[in-house]
Amino acid sequence: TRVAIVFGGRSSEHAISCVSAGAILGALDPDQYEILPVGITRAGRWVLASGDASRLAIRERALPEITAASGSAVVLAVDPTATEMIVRDPVEGVSELAGADVVFPVLHGAYGEDGTIQGMLEMAGIPYVGANVFASAAAMDKEFTKKLAIAEGIPVGPYAVLRAGVSLSGADRDRLGLPVFVKPSRAGSSTGITKVSDWADLDAAVAAAREIDPKVLVEAAIVGREIECGVLEGETGGEPEASLLAEIHMDGADWYDFETKYLAGSRATIPADLPDAVTRQVRQYALRTFTALDCAGLARVDFFVTASGEVLLNEINTMPGMTPTSMFPQMWAATGLEYPKVVDRLVRTALS
Ligand code: DAL
Ligand code: MG
Repeated sequence: TRVAIVFGGRSSEHAISCVSAGAILGALDPDQYEILPVGITRAGRWVLASGDASRLAIRERALPEITAASGSAVVLAVDPTATEMIVRDPVEGVSELAGADVVFPVLHGAYGEDGTIQGMLEMAGIPYVGANVFASAAAMDKEFTKKLAIAEGIPVGPYAVLRAGVSLSGADRDRLGLPVFVKPSRAGSSTGITKVSDWADLDAAVAAAREIDPKVLVEAAIVGREIECGVLEGETGGEPEASLLAEIHMDGADWYDFETKYLAGSRATIPADLPDAVTRQVRQYALRTFTALDCAGLARVDFFVTASGEVLLNEINTMPGMTPTSMFPQMWAATGLEYPKVVDRLVRTALS
């Protein structure tokens, strides 16, 4: 079975995609699968790579990047002397997909997790891991995720949508209160997000979010615990399954920003120490969100749980981080499915 691992990409989560891909490349059984590592540079150039996937890691706070600046070599920014991942042919990357039995788009964010590559693969008739075009687009866009969740009766926190050129109204300021989180509607890994505790800082926060997406969400800050749940598509046509829950601890960080997620490090308790009724509610909402958005393969569904036990959906990720420290693989490992088994199951489900 030929598996194309597509990673990097044009989104603000390029580096995290590289780290996820490095772990997946290391977890696929080379005796079982012929692996084609296909990198996409930040500029959108497709390159067929070969070599040492362990380079695709965060080392001493340096983030990996796929670049084809020299025209012939993929240079990982984490270690400029590492040129083991050599581009055989810069354009071969795309055409190589046609020879794959299945594509694993390990891409986070725009042009990857948003339905675009899924559309290309649908057109080409190539099976792929994860959500289809609609589910990817709906889950990528926090506005539409919320709208679909609300229609399904899954609670979300108070928010306002600022389309391109629109500012937050006085009525919305009063309704949301301070602090608020200002987010690009379509992004991930906390890129472009600012916590605003003074309305004087709002415009700068909106401008920062708009560097990633012209559509911006302003969300009321929820005072609560951060709880996550992994969902896997059922095997052989069965119902989707929910993992044990994780609670994120930020150890002094004010919120779960990029630094805390990937660099400074955060801790998780798995399973999260919650009353049984709350645990059941979170897992049920996670499965319902997965089904309501028509997801496939995998997703990580993120929630807030308030002091009174109210469960609010934060967001869903159809290609959640798969780095060695990411919550999705850790939650499944705690549930009894180790990393290589998760990856293998994803590939098999995509092919079935
Ligand atoms: N968007 C990042 C990769 C995540 O959800 O894990
Ligand atoms: Mg996300």
